[in-house]
Amino acid sequence: MSKRVLIVDDEENLRHILSIILTKEGYEVEAVKNGREALNCLEKSIYDTVLCDIRMPVMDGITFLKAVQSSEFGVRSKTPETQNSKLKTLSLPTIIMMSAYGAIDDAIEAMKLGAYDYISKPFKSDEVILTIRKAEERERLRRENSELREVVKKDFGVTGIITKNEEMVKMLATVKKVADYKTTVLITGESGTGKELIARALHYNGGRGSKAFVAVNCGAIPENLLESEFFGHVKGAFTDAVRNKKGLFEEAEGGTLFLDEIGELPFHLQVKLLRALQEEEIMRIGDTKPIRVSVRIVAATVKDLGREVKEGRFREDLFYRLNVLPIHLPPLRERPEDIPALSSHFMGKYKDRHGIKVGAVSPDAMKLLMDYTWPGNVRELENAIERSVLLSEGENITVSALPPAVRGKMVSASPGTGLKTGIPSDNLSIKKAARAMEEELIKRALEKSHGNRTHAAELLELSHRALLYKIKEYGIKG
Ligand SMILES: Nc1ncnc2c1ncn2[C@@H]1O[C@H](COP(=O)(O)OP(=O)(O)OP(=O)(O)O)[C@@H](O)[C@H]1O
Ligand SMILES: [Mg+2]
Repeated sequence: MSKRVLIVDDEENLRHILSIILTKEGYEVEAVKNGREALNCLEKSIYDTVLCDIRMPVMDGITFLKAVQSSEFGVRSKTPETQNSKLKTLSLPTIIMMSAYGAIDDAIEAMKLGAYDYISKPFKSDEVILTIRKAEERERLRRENSELREVVKKDFGVTGIITKNEEMVKMLATVKKVADYKTTVLITGESGTGKELIARALHYNGGRGSKAFVAVNCGAIPENLLESEFFGHVKGAFTDAVRNKKGLFEEAEGGTLFLDEIGELPFHLQVKLLRALQEEEIMRIGDTKPIRVSVRIVAATVKDLGREVKEGRFREDLFYRLNVLPIHLPPLRERPEDIPALSSHFMGKYKDRHGIKVGAVSPDAMKLLMDYTWPGNVRELENAIERSVLLSEGENITVSALPPAVRGKMVSASPGTGLKTGIPSDNLSIKKAARAMEEELIKRALEKSHGNRTHAAELLELSHRALLYKIKEYGIKG
């Protein structure tokens, strides 16, 4: 379908020439002689682009532009009928002004009022075509972007969060309500309960959704790098600072900074974070002037921060600053009613992803899913369902496709999966062997703890921070 252009100019000659040029380029063209007539056209029909003169009798270009941009016109042009017409993604046309030689001020005013561009008379035909093409390209990108945003919303929006639990439903209502505000939110809950999912929902459902969502795992970054990660640095601030670097606060400007595993933040950084939150400004390391930042903070932790405060590991003032709106996610074992819904949600997801046909979870298998305690919570259930989809042989997911832990058998390392397997046999480097062994041990601990990292860290006799760091370093999934 060819694009439609509306030409608005009081000079007959110019309307004629432009019509010829644009028709030759494949556009469907209509031409009128003033703003009033142009408004009538826009009410009756849909155009992609309007080429509009500024000085005209009856209604000039600026008045026309204001009328188009005014909400009244905008609302009228978005009535259900026009939305259901074949051009259902109706939006206002892109307006390009034509200004007389020397009337640059008019053109600038028009741009301020929302015109996309202007061309000065006299112009060459190439120039007109190029400007229209540019406007079309921008419009295409704009649409693509808003479609993308819709997709992202679907994935992370409150709609993508499955629950039948009353407490969770109430919590989701709160998430929707506060998404638009800059309120600091502290999300607590065991590993795998959906803390990051909620953080993203808060971001993508609010007015900041089109800006950045920056996630940082406070436990996975080496302590000595944390400050520069958060606040950035200027060139020369320390030996490795070879150039200026923006920190995460600046990266998240206008959007959300998700401080995951906030309970792992070292004490001296807690002070600096508190200051940044209170002042809403940060200072790059080595810099002398502060930078203002507008960032929404969402923090998450598996720890009981109140207890951390009592035991002197977490600053009380920072705790209160973060705990403005607490959201607690109950473990999956406390909301078994969510298991069937989540199971079919994940089945759908992995069926599509792996192109496998499976119908449902068999009643026996569902009973086992309901009886199991899910120490790794929703993440563990998701992994179990993915595995079952892959292993299922018939139409349904049956007991035999479920992970051993869910089937009630002990996870026993079969012979031959001893630690030796992780060690490269052709290499005698102690360093390499130690790394391989470390990786193997971490994987086992995670398996044993069903993906619960807090528990895995205890098994490994490692700090939670060190474990998170190593998981990231080795790229271990789970
Ligand atoms: N209610 C839910 N509906 C759908 N998917 C969910 C739900 N809760 C969690 N998930 C999924 O479970 C997985 C784990 O969730 P998430 O990463 O948000 O957990 P977490 O609490 O941040 O865990 P950890 O503390 O280990 O980082 C993700 O893939 C997430 O999409
Ligand atoms: Mg998480």
